[in-house]
Amino acid sequence: MSNLKINCVCIILCFAVGCNVFCCAKEKPCGKNNECNCTKAVATCSCLNYIPKLPPTITKLILKNNTLPLINRISFMNISSINLRILYFENNSIEILQDDAFYDLKNITELSLITEKLLNTTSLKSSFQSLTIGTIQRLYLENNDWYGLPNDMFYYLSGANIALSLRNNLFHKLNSNVFLPIANLRKLQVEENEIVYVNLNGLMTTGFLDLSNNNIYAIPNFCNNSDETFVPQLKYLSLAYNAIRKISKESFKCLDNLKYLIMDGNRLRSLDNNVFALLHNLRKLAIGYNQQLKDIAPFAFNSSSLQILHLYRNNFRYSKKKYKEKRFNPQTIFQTIPNLKELDLSRNYLNEYAIVRELFASTRHIHKLTLVSSDITTIPEELLRNMPHIKSLNLQGNEIELWNESLFDNLPSMRELYLDGNNIHVINETSFPAKLLKSLDVLELSGNQYRCTCEMKWFLDKIRSTNFSTKLRESWPSRYTCYYPEHLRLTLLADYFPTIAECNSLNIVSLIIITACSSVLILLFCVIMTFQCQINFKNALYLFRLKQRMKHGYFSLESSDDYEFDAFVVYCDADRLWVHGVLLKHLENSNLNICVHHRDFDVGEPVLNNIGKYMAKSWKIIVVLSNNFAKSEWCQWEVDLVQERRRRQGKKVLVLVMYQQIDSKHMITPLKALLDTTPYLSYKEGFGEYLFWTAVVKDINKPLNIPPISIF
Ligand SMILES: *[C@@H]1O[C@H](CO)[C@@H](O)[C@H](O)[C@H]1NC(C)=O
Ligand SMILES: *[C@@H]1O[C@H](CO)[C@@H](O)[C@H](O)[C@H]1NC(C)=O
Ligand SMILES: *[C@@H]1O[C@H](CO)[C@@H](O)[C@H](O)[C@H]1NC(C)=O
Ligand SMILES: *[C@@H]1O[C@H](CO)[C@@H](O)[C@H](O)[C@H]1NC(C)=O
Ligand SMILES: *[C@@H]1O[C@H](CO)[C@@H](O)[C@H](O)[C@H]1NC(C)=O
Ligand SMILES: *[C@@H]1O[C@H](CO)[C@@H](O)[C@H](O)[C@H]1NC(C)=O
Ligand SMILES: *[C@@H]1O[C@H](CO)[C@@H](O)[C@H](O)[C@H]1NC(C)=O
Ligand SMILES: *[C@@H]1O[C@H](CO)[C@@H](O)[C@H](O)[C@H]1NC(C)=O
Ligand SMILES: *[C@@H]1O[C@H](CO)[C@@H](O)[C@H](O)[C@H]1NC(C)=O
Ligand SMILES: *[C@@H]1O[C@H](CO)[C@@H](O)[C@H](O)[C@H]1NC(C)=O
Ligand SMILES: *[C@@H]1O[C@H](CO)[C@@H](O)[C@H](O)[C@H]1NC(C)=O
Repeated sequence: MSNLKINCVCIILCFAVGCNVFCCAKEKPCGKNNECNCTKAVATCSCLNYIPKLPPTITKLILKNNTLPLINRISFMNISSINLRILYFENNSIEILQDDAFYDLKNITELSLITEKLLNTTSLKSSFQSLTIGTIQRLYLENNDWYGLPNDMFYYLSGANIALSLRNNLFHKLNSNVFLPIANLRKLQVEENEIVYVNLNGLMTTGFLDLSNNNIYAIPNFCNNSDETFVPQLKYLSLAYNAIRKISKESFKCLDNLKYLIMDGNRLRSLDNNVFALLHNLRKLAIGYNQQLKDIAPFAFNSSSLQILHLYRNNFRYSKKKYKEKRFNPQTIFQTIPNLKELDLSRNYLNEYAIVRELFASTRHIHKLTLVSSDITTIPEELLRNMPHIKSLNLQGNEIELWNESLFDNLPSMRELYLDGNNIHVINETSFPAKLLKSLDVLELSGNQYRCTCEMKWFLDKIRSTNFSTKLRESWPSRYTCYYPEHLRLTLLADYFPTIAECNSLNIVSLIIITACSSVLILLFCVIMTFQCQINFKNALYLFRLKQRMKHGYFSLESSDDYEFDAFVVYCDADRLWVHGVLLKHLENSNLNICVHHRDFDVGEPVLNNIGKYMAKSWKIIVVLSNNFAKSEWCQWEVDLVQERRRRQGKKVLVLVMYQQIDSKHMITPLKALLDTTPYLSYKEGFGEYLFWTAVVKDINKPLNIPPISIF
């Protein structure tokens, strides 16, 4: 897409400037017979046995896979007038470079001779005399299968100020005496040789020395016996990927200006206290990929100048167990690095929450923290609170699923956050503070196990409605896939559109359903209350009021002791089963003495007499009201009798029990008069029955001078 754009712009520009290739870095054939490919400044020629004529704009010439066994001044005849600055030879079968070879290439700054395995180094040495010492800056002599160099190799470069690479040769020993003639050897790269022995006497001017990927097993001497340094200018030293087994505090003496020390990929077993303490200017220390590392002394990294520490890929277990064995100390390890700004502990074991918390308790100046693939499941909540200046946090490839909402609060400097390749299922509004999302430049969340459900709606909406995805960089959308549910697994998150039916309206629908259901339930409850439970409700209220009155001290009575029975039951024969089976049982279980005519009346006496006699012997009269009762004339007579008693002793003498709600068609006037003037308790089987019986018993026990309380 953008390529197309550039091309269009190019074409337009090409027309504008008369097709002089101006911005396009595209190659075109060049050379007298189109032997080479050229951009404006760079020519590449292959498969030739001469160097052809090239456009005057060329400043860099790359010669690859040609056959040029002899090179001298004549070889460059065709290009002697162009202002060549960079000359690159690779695999041209060069055997001899003659003394005058570079005579016409006065402006050469960079010369490379790579994979020229046939090249005679003595001839090369001599050819240097035709280089312009004042202009040559970089010399790359790589992959030439050299075992050694003539002692006077750089004799003709004595006044030069150069960076030299001898990478990828076969040196067994680095004898720096060979560099002594060079006035200023700024940079020396001898990586990827077979170097075991190193003599640094000859690098007085060198600031950068790369000895990586050799076979060095001991730290070389940086100074002579009288402690004078060989490398006073050295700022960068790499001893990475060698075989160094041991370092001591003495190892790094005479490196007063060293700022960068790279020791990755060695075989260090332990780091003693203060091993780097003599490196007064050390800024960056890398000791990654030392998989034999088993012990780190408590103050190993003691350095007031150190700012960057890389300890990745050591397979070191920062565990309680190791702490107990005194193989490291989480409290002090970083404590003696007061200016630590950047720390990389990736690919170690940091899965113990308490240890992680202690490790980072004293790292207040951290700007960049990298903890990739470190087995972390939980980020300690105070981790970032101790790092107010943090700019970049990389937690890629851990096992993180959730974090405390407050973890990322108050991090005004944070610009880059990497949480890719974890176990995150959901990103929603509470995952990150809005402030953080605003200030971040990079937020990496790819490669997690996302749930393609409504829970992700917020995140997807944010991406679709704003330019937020620019912060997710190129990994959006290709590296964001659904993990759940099963049928969406491995589909792109970007292709998942949570529907209104699934999400918002699900809530609305369920809200409606819930509202409707609860309305119906409430209604139903009310109906039940009104038609059935009302009885219980009334009973409860009745009981409550009764209790209130009793509390207020009226409870002193001459009592039922004056009567033979606590209560006389008036009922109609149709309700006998209930009266005997239920009512009597309940009341007598409450130690009440109850009189019912079938059981207690004197045999042989007329019923009327009996009723009169036993009613008089009873303290209270219970009237069991029902439709049967209302219908029967006999019962009506009894009501008259009851009313008579009521007139004498007041309504408190009656306990009206509505066994069955009476239909209005059966409601006769005397009964209605009784019910209107006397409160009654309604019987309801099941729920609330206990309440009813309690009320009946209380009502029977209630003193006569306390009138029952009307409910309605
Ligand atoms: C020039 O480029 C073309 C196409 O890019 C390629 O086929 C050809 O081999 C190149 N020639 C040289 C001398 O590099
Ligand atoms: C100069 O280039 C021509 C072809 O362009 C070639 O034939 C000739 O050999 C070249 N000269 C030298 C000295 O290499
Ligand atoms: C040079 O040869 C190698 C091996 O045949 C090949 O891979 C490479 O592409 C060639 N380079 C050029 C510039 O032709
Ligand atoms: C070197 O160049 C020759 C052709 O001149 C080619 O056959 C060979 O593969 C090349 N070798 C490398 C390592 O590029
Ligand atoms: C070398 O560079 C100088 C100044 O940049 C210029 O005057 C001179 O012509 C160049 N030499 C050649 C051979 O192009
Ligand atoms: C390298 O060249 C020199 C002369 O420049 C010659 O004396 C020497 O024998 C050559 N060495 C090899 C290995 O060809
Ligand atoms: C090394 O030590 C000697 C004395 O033994 C001293 O003269 C010399 O200058 C020292 N320095 C270097 C870099 O060799
Ligand atoms: C840390 O290094 C400083 C300076 O080299 C030294 O004074 C101090 O005693 C060291 N601290 C520990 C705990 O060894
Ligand atoms: C999250 O952090 C807050 C504030 O520090 C704390 O009160 C809360 O308990 C934490 N919640 C969890 C689940 O750890
Ligand atoms: C966000 O997701 C987390 C983890 O799934 C969950 O605990 C939290 O309740 C969610 N918050 C909101 C607002 O949905
Ligand atoms: C995204 O949009 C905001 C305003 O909505 C703007 O300030 C910001 O510069 C935009 N970012 C990019 C990368 O386009």
